[in-house]
Amino acid sequence: MLKSIIRRTSISGTSRRRFTSGSAPERKVAVLGAAGGIGQPLSLLMKLNPLVSRLALYDIAGTPGVAADVSHINTRSEVAGFAGEEQLGQALEGADIVIIPAGVPRKPGMTRDDLFNINAGIVKSLCTAIAKYCPRALVNMISNPVNSTVPIAAEVFKKAGTYDEKRLFGVTTLDVVRAKTFYAGKARVNVAEVNVPVVGGHAGITILPLFSQATPTANLSDEEIEALTKRTQDGGTEVVEAKAGKGSATLSMAYAGAIFADACLKGLNGVPDVVECSFVQSNVTELPFFASKVRLGENGVEEVLGLGQLTDYEKKGLEALKPELLSSIEKGIKFANAN
Ligand code: NAI
Repeated sequence: MLKSIIRRTSISGTSRRRFTSGSAPERKVAVLGAAGGIGQPLSLLMKLNPLVSRLALYDIAGTPGVAADVSHINTRSEVAGFAGEEQLGQALEGADIVIIPAGVPRKPGMTRDDLFNINAGIVKSLCTAIAKYCPRALVNMISNPVNSTVPIAAEVFKKAGTYDEKRLFGVTTLDVVRAKTFYAGKARVNVAEVNVPVVGGHAGITILPLFSQATPTANLSDEEIEALTKRTQDGGTEVVEAKAGKGSATLSMAYAGAIFADACLKGLNGVPDVVECSFVQSNVTELPFFASKVRLGENGVEEVLGLGQLTDYEKKGLEALKPELLSSIEKGIKFANAN
């Protein structure tokens, strides 16, 4: 299959692999929560991705309009809208990737954990349907609290007998996107060249950017690193407060979700060396789930990469985040098994 999607081209005398959209394999992507603040721009961005051949947009309401709108864009994928639970199976059937931004967002003063009561139930029912209709799909979980919704999904899949730890991802890409932007601003380097791993989880202090590993390197003071770390951890709250009751990050999240789904598609298609940070089942620490760099491949997670060298400040951050992250993971597991 690889052969059919890779064409060798000669550019300036060098042989370079090029992936062409015309011959890319058929890939179906389903977005659950597609009519929401994240769902709409994310659907737009997935419609622009040449690796997608079918785009299924599902929500409890409002998807026919979003689907009709997006479907007029003259790109490769065929778009279909599905509304209401009775159409969920059709939306999921044959999906290679399911992206889940369904659920309520934060308002000022709320933590991500405050969303647990509503979103845990939504995620549980959507994952029950995924286990039934597309058990081999890669699941990209955006719904918060990610630190709990990913363990909930794992438990639902285990109960259904479909769990494959290589296929379940908590989307933490927005933390990476923010860390890159904030670092580039402070270090005065080209943001397009910046790389910063962000590990741990996806809430407050569980978000641990590793600025000591950031590239291009810059000589930032301890105070500057601390301020960047804090801003990355509080990036979501910065947006929630600026939106003043009208929700949380949607546009930057849609961008981040599209970057992560694109990486998953490339991995599925056999593109080598696709690495993104994600919250996955992990042996990197003693916690059962942890965000770190992950190599993506034809089966989802190919390799969970380690943390590399940490500074004392980062080591302290790592130890400090573990109790909160563990308790969020356990809360998710308990919920999934009690209900
Ligand atoms: P929103 O309220 O604008 O949209 C949510 C959509 O989900 C709505 O259209 C709603 O109808 C739909 N929905 C509710 N129950 C559903 C169900 N059972 N099946 C399908 N769809 C359902 O919220 P927004 O701003 O789009 O946020 C969505 C989620 O993403 C929230 O949980 C938010 O906390 C989370 N989020 C995650 C981030 C991350 O970095 N992972 C960043 C920002 C937000």
